[in-house]
Amino acid sequence: MQETLERNGLLLIIVILITIAVGGLVQIVPLHTIENTIEKVEGMRPYTPLELKGRGIYVREGCYLCHSQMIRPFRDEVERYGHYSLAAESMYDHPFQWGSKRTGPDLARVGGKYSNAWHSAHIADPRSVVPESIMPGYPFMVGRELSTTGLQAEMEVLRVVGVPYTDDMIANAMADLQAQANPDMGDAEAMAGRYPKAGAGDFDGDPSKITEMDALVAYLQVLGTMVDTTSYQVGPDGR
Ligand code: HEC
Repeated sequence: MQETLERNGLLLIIVILITIAVGGLVQIVPLHTIENTIEKVEGMRPYTPLELKGRGIYVREGCYLCHSQMIRPFRDEVERYGHYSLAAESMYDHPFQWGSKRTGPDLARVGGKYSNAWHSAHIADPRSVVPESIMPGYPFMVGRELSTTGLQAEMEVLRVVGVPYTDDMIANAMADLQAQANPDMGDAEAMAGRYPKAGAGDFDGDPSKITEMDALVAYLQVLGTMVDTTSYQVGPDGR
């Protein structure tokens, strides 16, 4: 049999295709029999307009080239970064930011780890807070006004691919963006009503305008904080 196959290229290709098809079916068919491949978890909400803009800057600057956003379920990872990432935690990320390179640490749960002031200082000049850092600085983001062009269109597109932005959220996008970055000037309560637990504040320490730094820090501060992972603990040691 083997000799026949090895001597007959066409037959070999056909047998290879059959083998791959069987393997494919075994993996793919079961996915269609379950309702959802992503387990639903509590707490997940779409990004606020400000966080969404910050995420855009994260992608634009290529932060993912040095930072992953996926904590693997291994003990060393969990001890360093916190609860391993759940699939649902990136369900509203288009495209996801899992990354494949860790020149710097994983950022999946960096939210709340540092103050807003630390982040602003770190992004502008990493070595001002971490002397041995090799991360490049992004000083141009300080005071650079955030462009909100296309904000609503962006939310509408995300809605098409499954992010549950409501009409209300899209209509109030600009108001929510301003309220989150400058709670004194806008209705932060209405914003938090649409986006539960969204943190409002002056993220970059300059209340006079909404900057790229405001957006990026707002995004970093929400990473990994939406789901209460203490309710998803497994294993005897709580991990
Ligand atoms: C050339 C690689 C590189 C790039 C690009 C890069 N970083 Fe970093 N980053 C690092 C390294 C290395 C560290 C660890 C040293 C430090 O804290 O500065 C780090 C640390 C961090 C930390 C602190 C993480 C922690 O848990 O202590 C944050 C937050 C961060 N980076 C955000 C960003 C953001 C946002 C961008 C894009 C604007 C970015 N980084 C781009 C290499 C990079």
